[in-house]
Amino acid sequence: MTDLARAMAALAAGLEDVLDRLLPKDEAPERELLDAMRYATLDGGKRIRPFLTAQSAGLFGVSNNSALRTGAALEMVHCYSLVHDDLPAMDDDALRRGKPTVHKRYDEATAILAGDALLTRAFEVLASDSTHSNPAVRVELVKELAKAAGAHGMVGGQMIDLKAADGALDIGAITRLQRLKTGRLIDFACQAGAILGRAPLAAREALRGYTHDLGLAFQIADDLLDVEGDAETMGKAVGKDADKGKATFVSILGVERARDQANRLADQAAHHLKPFGDKADLLRDLARFVVERKH
Ligand code: IPE
Ligand code: IPE
Ligand code: MG
Ligand code: MG
Ligand code: MG
Repeated sequence: MTDLARAMAALAAGLEDVLDRLLPKDEAPERELLDAMRYATLDGGKRIRPFLTAQSAGLFGVSNNSALRTGAALEMVHCYSLVHDDLPAMDDDALRRGKPTVHKRYDEATAILAGDALLTRAFEVLASDSTHSNPAVRVELVKELAKAAGAHGMVGGQMIDLKAADGALDIGAITRLQRLKTGRLIDFACQAGAILGRAPLAAREALRGYTHDLGLAFQIADDLLDVEGDAETMGKAVGKDADKGKATFVSILGVERARDQANRLADQAAHHLKPFGDKADLLRDLARFVVERKH
């Protein structure tokens, strides 16, 4: 096992405990909603975003508890985005993380509400003094996650993504779309560690440079896997983008050039970590993992 694989597994285990506590089972009449939220969030996924938060927090001496709770809030937003992304009105997918999607396992209305409630719960967690003792830090986390997830962030990207379904976007438009739909949450993941650690501006800028390239590389890899990946390994259907005639980096550049581009971006991402020396080695390894992953 590589150092990165070991560290990612340890983070995933710690995160699972925190998520389990933050999303408790409930016997109230709305029990099924809680069940669906847990189903969407627990026991699955690579947990890349919370891993980024934990690694970035580690650069600035942040407590494990703060990093894990913040990573858990971010993962809730990510999982909500997947639940809604899979709905019939969007990508209409039946499989996610190797299990039936939430609207298949429950129903569409429950999936919509579970997504809504995960999004809301995330902000409740960030606003709690158990996440950080300093209210200014909590407000900054809330504000930055709201921006990253909202109309000029992930949701805005999803909106533009709907337009990509008629193949009408050029490379500039696709770059912007992917920076929003995927890049902004990945950017928040690293900024969150810096916010928790009250990191100096120069460090924040270096991390921003890293995630700017990493986020794009990550989505190009996702699009490549949609063409070349194995559905079983990925736990989700493949070939969906081509079926929909969706414009992606791969549809425009072709597989080889898209892969070159992803590799270049991953290298470039790692260069931004220079100021952190070997403390950022796992973040460097992650940039390679993002473009070499099979799931
Ligand atoms: C999938 O994200 C959706 C995209 C933004 C491309 P991940 O590949 O991080 O999904 P999980 O969390 O590991 O399932
Ligand atoms: C989804 O992108 C990105 C989100 C913001 C949820 P995709 O639609 O390509 O993600 P997958 O391939 O279904 O995981
Ligand atoms: Mg989609
Ligand atoms: Mg999708
Ligand atoms: Mg995809």
